[in-house]
Amino acid sequence: MKEHTTQGDVYILAIESSCDETAASVVKNGREVCSNVISSQIALHTQYGGVVPEIASRKHIEKINQVIEAALSEADMAIDDMTAIAVTYGPGLVGPLLVGVAEAKALAYAAGKPLIGVHHIEGHVSANFIENPDLEPPFVCLIVSGGHTHLVIVRDYGEFEIIGRTRDDAAGEAFDKVARAVGLGYPGGPKIDKAAREGDPHAMEFPRARVGDNPFDFSFSGLKSSVLNYINHAKMTGERINVADLAASFQNAVVEVLVSRTVDAAGQYGFTKVAIAGGVASNTALREGMGEACRKAGLSLYYPSPILCTDNAAMIGAAAYYEYRNGARAGWDLNAVPNLKLGER
Ligand code: KG4
Ligand code: ZN
Repeated sequence: MKEHTTQGDVYILAIESSCDETAASVVKNGREVCSNVISSQIALHTQYGGVVPEIASRKHIEKINQVIEAALSEADMAIDDMTAIAVTYGPGLVGPLLVGVAEAKALAYAAGKPLIGVHHIEGHVSANFIENPDLEPPFVCLIVSGGHTHLVIVRDYGEFEIIGRTRDDAAGEAFDKVARAVGLGYPGGPKIDKAAREGDPHAMEFPRARVGDNPFDFSFSGLKSSVLNYINHAKMTGERINVADLAASFQNAVVEVLVSRTVDAAGQYGFTKVAIAGGVASNTALREGMGEACRKAGLSLYYPSPILCTDNAAMIGAAAYYEYRNGARAGWDLNAVPNLKLGER
């Protein structure tokens, strides 16, 4: 075992199992990733066109011990070297969450370490701290994942103010549904991203919805329906669909809305730093579009590497560090909370 521990360093073993990735990571002082192990179940769920919760739970049980062992061994550390054990306790699928929570409780209890419950979305936001040492709150963050689309002000570590949210589908969900309808398969985001590179983003005109009274809310169901109508109409009339053009045009509509709301929010609330987070933040067109708009508006843009955008445990370790510093400790009664809201404990 290497001699790692300098006085005061905080090492967190983090566990993530809220959906279809079994992940564990050792994170030093919130920003340095010592290991980041992800066992993806994507191949398993692809044949069903989406995540099957019961299969996901069983696979998490099968994998979680070896993933944790791999995370410790890649970091060249033992459980006794950890300062605390952290786990995602919501939001997510209840069965998968319970596997991680039960495992973290057992480990923390047996090793006599503090336990920290982490909000999955706070994890996504915190992924930005890992590779951007200069990023500190406050900043505006767009969180776009398979289950969530939120525009938030990160006031401080672990302190969020939601200023906009989706009224219907999440951005990632729209990507997944459109991809499935056009025969690209699951998960749709990366498939659309790839197909769109060969397509014309202006080939088809899809609607960009503005919703109600809040200029920072989102709605993707109208756009999704419009794309599905286009596909159905083409099928009925025997017209060949240009998948690359459709992917590029749909993606362009999503990206335009995400970029304009985020840049407007930064302007209106007077922030100069913007971050993006969640699986959809790995989208090439979103990264480029947001980059260009931020440059024009004089804003600094931060985003994690693609591997830290989609579900992983390093982001949970980063969030847990700031929770730990703030004195947050979970009890042995920590439970999975499938619909945990941001800012709730
Ligand atoms: O954050 P994440 O891994 O899991 C949730 O917390 O939901 O996000 C998964 C979502 C899926 O909907 C997936 O299709 C989408 O992120 N996604 C992408 C890309 N990579 C993943 N969407 C667009 N472009 C991508 N490159
Ligand atoms: Zn996620």
